[in-house]
Amino acid sequence: MNDFATTYRTAQAGALRASAAGSRVRLAGWIHRRRDLGGLVFIDLRDRGGRVQLAFEPGTTPPDVLARARELGPEWVIGVAGLVRQRPAGNLNPELPTGEVEVVVDALQVFSASDTPPIPVARGGDDELPAEDLRLRYRYLDLRRDELQHGLHVRHRAMQCVRRHLTSEGFWEIDTPMLTRRTPEGARDYLVPSRVHPGEFYALPQSPQLYKQLLMVSGYDRYFQIARCLRDEDLRADRQPEFTQIDAELSFVAEEDVFGVGERTMAALWREILGVELSLPFPRLSYAEALARYGTDKPDLRFGMEFQDLTALLCEADFRLFAATRESGEQIRGITVPGGAALSRRELDELAAIARAAGAAGALWVKRGPDGLSGPFAKALDEGLAGRFCAAAGLADGDLFVAVIGHFRGAAAGDLSRAAVLGGAEVALDALRRHLGTRLGLRRPDAHAWAWVTGFPLFEWEPEAERVVAAHHPFTMPHPDDVARLLELTSGGPPPAGTAAFALYREGLRSRAYDAVYNGNELASGSIRIHDPALQRAVFRALGIPESEAERRFGFLLEAFRFGVPPHGGFAFGFDRLVMLLVGAPSLRDVIAFPKTTAARALFEGAPSTVADDELRELHIRTTSA
Ligand code: AMO
Repeated sequence: MNDFATTYRTAQAGALRASAAGSRVRLAGWIHRRRDLGGLVFIDLRDRGGRVQLAFEPGTTPPDVLARARELGPEWVIGVAGLVRQRPAGNLNPELPTGEVEVVVDALQVFSASDTPPIPVARGGDDELPAEDLRLRYRYLDLRRDELQHGLHVRHRAMQCVRRHLTSEGFWEIDTPMLTRRTPEGARDYLVPSRVHPGEFYALPQSPQLYKQLLMVSGYDRYFQIARCLRDEDLRADRQPEFTQIDAELSFVAEEDVFGVGERTMAALWREILGVELSLPFPRLSYAEALARYGTDKPDLRFGMEFQDLTALLCEADFRLFAATRESGEQIRGITVPGGAALSRRELDELAAIARAAGAAGALWVKRGPDGLSGPFAKALDEGLAGRFCAAAGLADGDLFVAVIGHFRGAAAGDLSRAAVLGGAEVALDALRRHLGTRLGLRRPDAHAWAWVTGFPLFEWEPEAERVVAAHHPFTMPHPDDVARLLELTSGGPPPAGTAAFALYREGLRSRAYDAVYNGNELASGSIRIHDPALQRAVFRALGIPESEAERRFGFLLEAFRFGVPPHGGFAFGFDRLVMLLVGAPSLRDVIAFPKTTAARALFEGAPSTVADDELRELHIRTTSA
């Protein structure tokens, strides 16, 4: 039963339809808008189900009720009783689901008045939203807005859908602690001081990673959780310090088994929320291939424009910039933009600026028109070379070719070891590809391009800490073809910096980690985990984590691993990101009821906040800043 009938009402205001015409109802809700038309007063009454028009009219509505209605303001909470009436033909409101009816009121009760809201709830379609800080300060008012209500409703439906689907695949939902010890996701932990154990702290979980692996050790194959994760990291638009994951782990599985569960879960969600049938299986793409073809590990696969290496061919041209690459060992890579010759001169000039902003020296372009090639390096290509260039680049009449010169990482061969660290050149060409994809309308929101990106590097260089760290986390299984090399390179710990062995170790080893990407967004990460305690110790050693520290931080996991570990693996989807993309919201904050600002503040409740000295004393804490 969900007719919302309670002590205060017989129905939900927003749920009234033409079928209710002729019946008496009692409704309760907020005043969305009031219009005073001389004798007649109209009020749009709002509740969670939507809005309905109330009519207070002389003759039907008692004079004292009509007089009272004139005094009501926006956001007051009222109860009314009256008769549902079909609206006359000229007065239908096709914008509202209740637009065929109105309620002629004969009794009114005011439950509470409202001050003038500092941000308006009822808005015209073109009204600009107030500044976001103000809206976050009055979040409980902003949440009355249709768009936010819609976001949270989709969030609820998505959560139920995931629960239903994973349950149908045999998963159990098991919750894991919030007060825990440090977890391994690589961000800073939020710490909670212990009152009863002076000087000791809990950490809030960055993810349930260790617990879910322990659950596999315990034999609880197929666990999931809609898990809250907390990370003290530098915030970006698509990050929140508190966020939610669809977290899952399975035993006796390899990559393909995990991918199957992940993609069937996404298919269930897309079907339920968007009515879209995703095409399964999702394409698989190796990390090396993704970098070589798109310059990024989260390519937007809604369109082509793959990177092409034309170094050898273009070096033949009599062009100073190209000739220089012969000595520097740089490459010339570019993309062919179908129909791109139609871009204006100003837009073409903008391309170099985009490339520079992304860290490259610039960008070069050439376009093909009915009279042949034109553009900065067109003259340097003689007829023969121009013909070979057009054939190699697939450049047809009306197309544009945009090139970046620099050091590009990786090659389709999958040998990451020869590559320089992800640098300006591929970041720039990726930025140009995305920019042109948007400009040409190829990044359509109604296209659904999923893929699994596999074989991520095992380790990566962390510039801030100036050391090599686990690219995913230290429990990720190395790629079977790279285990022998890993053991050989790191038998005595990390190889000395500056050596060839170090370069190989730093970025030449692959792992069994993967991501799910959707329309150019990273939506999930996961891996097949190490289940051999000796290999786990070897990875800690390779990361330069001394045995004593490994013992201190992850001792309980290593201990558990002595008692029978199944091969296992799993994933975590970023749930807030999923919902944001499902509703087409511009920000994670639009699909989280009470989000933090980009400065990690909660504005209306005022967190974080200072704490009185006596409370701090009780926690055995003294602060060094005011
Ligand atoms: P990872 O750290 O990659 O993996 O997180 C998984 C997914 O969570 C989302 N996400 C975030 N969303 C919003 N705000 C953030 N600050 C934030 N950080 C991450 C992303 C990301 O893809 N334990 C592993 C998973 C595993 O190995 O099973 C983990 O947490 O969409």
